[in-house]
Parts: sequence; C-alpha cells; structure tokens
Amino acid sequence: MAQIKPTKKFVKNPIQGTKFTIAISSAKGGVGKSTFATNFALALKKSGCKVGLLDADIYGPSLPKLFSINGKPESQEGKLIPINKFDIQCMSIGFLTDEQTPMIWRGPMVTSAIKTFTQKVSWKDLDFIIVDMPPGTGDTQLTFAQEIKLDGAIIVSTPQEIALQDVKRGIRMFDKLGTRIIGLIDNMSFFKGDDGKKYDIFGTGGVKKTAEEFDKEFLGEIPIYPEIGKYGDQGKPIVEALPDHEATKIYMLLAEKIKKTYLN
Ligand SMILES: Nc1ncnc2c1ncn2[C@@H]1O[C@H](COP(=O)(O)OP(=O)(O)O)[C@@H](O)[C@H]1O
Ligand SMILES: [Mg+2]
Repeated sequence: MAQIKPTKKFVKNPIQGTKFTIAISSAKGGVGKSTFATNFALALKKSGCKVGLLDADIYGPSLPKLFSINGKPESQEGKLIPINKFDIQCMSIGFLTDEQTPMIWRGPMVTSAIKTFTQKVSWKDLDFIIVDMPPGTGDTQLTFAQEIKLDGAIIVSTPQEIALQDVKRGIRMFDKLGTRIIGLIDNMSFFKGDDGKKYDIFGTGGVKKTAEEFDKEFLGEIPIYPEIGKYGDQGKPIVEALPDHEATKIYMLLAEKIKKTYLN
C-alpha cells in the first residue's frame, strides 16, 4: 500500500462539471471493475442521469475497447473535450496513446496524469463521474481521495479468497482516507448452466461475509453471463446492447439505488 499521508495538508480540487464523483474499485485486477464501471455508467444514464466515465487505469486502459472509441479528444482553451459515446462523456489515457505502446510511468507521472484528467478536461453539467480505478491501493487511489474528491466508492470483487484478501486491503485504505464506501458487489458470483444448475465457480458467500465483517453494505450479486464478456469485447456493453437481459436489470436496479441515494 502506498503511504497514506495526513489529509489535512492537502487542498482538495474537486472535479468541476459534476455533482458527484464515484470510484469503482477493488484492490485486485481481473475481477470485473471496468466491465462493471461501463455497464453501471450506462445504467445511470438510462435512469436519467448525466454521466461521465473516467478511465483512471493509466497502465491498462479499457474504455477504448469496451466503448469502441478510436478517436482522439479535441482540445479547446487548454482543456481536453471528453469523447461522447452512448450519451456519456468519456476520457481515457487510451484515447491519447496507441494501443500497442506499453505504458511506462513513474509514480509522480501517474499523479500528474490523474490531475490532468480531473482538472484539465471540460466535463459538462454532469450528475456523476464514474471513475474506473486501476487495481491496487496506490497513487491513483490516494490522489483521488486526498487531492481531488471522492463522494463514494463501490468495491467490486469475485467471491474468491485471493480476491477478498485484496478487497479487505482496499476497504481499509478507503476507511483510512475517509472515503465513503457505498458497498460491495459480488461479481461473477456463480454460473447457471443450461441445465438450470448453479455452479459456484469462485466459491460463494465471501463478498457478503466481508461486507458484514467491515460493516459495509452488500449491494448484491452479478452472476457470470457469457454475454457480459461478449458485448464488452464488441464495444457495446450489455446494458446498451441487451436492454431486457437479466444482467441489465441488475445494473439498472443498482443505478436507481445510487441515483436515489445521491440525487434525492
Ligand atoms: N459478470 C460477468 N460475467 C461474465 N464475464 C465477466 C463478468 N464481469 C467481468 N467479466 C469478464 O471478466 C474479465 C475481466 O473484467 P474487467 O472488467 O476487465 O476486470 P478489471 O477491470 O477488474 O481488471 C473480462 O473478460 C470481462 O468480460
Ligand atoms: Mg480494468
């Protein structure tokens, strides 16, 4: 874990152009953060909110692929204009670099890239910016919590022990930083076969148990649906592609809940 400095020293610079900034986090990679962040952002939009999506994974940006965005953002008066896709204002380091180039960044460069994406982008009239966090408890998380402003964090995990171990570290970090943890999502909780049988691929119950252990809200389960992966790969996430799919309904319920919590 990167070292947490006392918060008092920092002057916060909240992102201009949005009412709320919400992080999608989990200390572990590959648990479905980016998939969740994109679908959740689309669900919020469908529920009538104005939404921005900031891909803060400087080392492994996913948004260009998940939203099939190939263009480069324009700049105006020294600020980048987000790329509008599916009625969502989008920004990612992946829009500025080509897909093949490995990202080699030192800590301070990460911090300065994050500052650029939060202070030098003209986000406009948004209710929410959803931030897709990189894995870990490092510079990006620290910068957001201490120097920008996070109004909440949703923690995504699979029920696997090895993922939960990292999740616990993530919870402790946000608690220490004073960031409100909205709750925990159990992603890829199980797979239901054609035979109707439930298969607990990564174990079961661990995320809920962790939520209870840390006195956080358990926000529910998202099973493994092959369509979630398929439509993500096609650059049109399931919430946009299949409005009536069971998975879409789960994302919509969550979006309605968060909308109610923040906007009412
Ligand atoms: N609920 C789900 N059902 C099926 N596949 C999923 C689900 N959630 C995530 N995936 C798949 O898991 C992989 C990792 O997801 P990703 O969102 O890139 O994780 P992270 O951002 O945490 O590294 C992707 O191939 C994605 O399509
Ligand atoms: Mg990701």
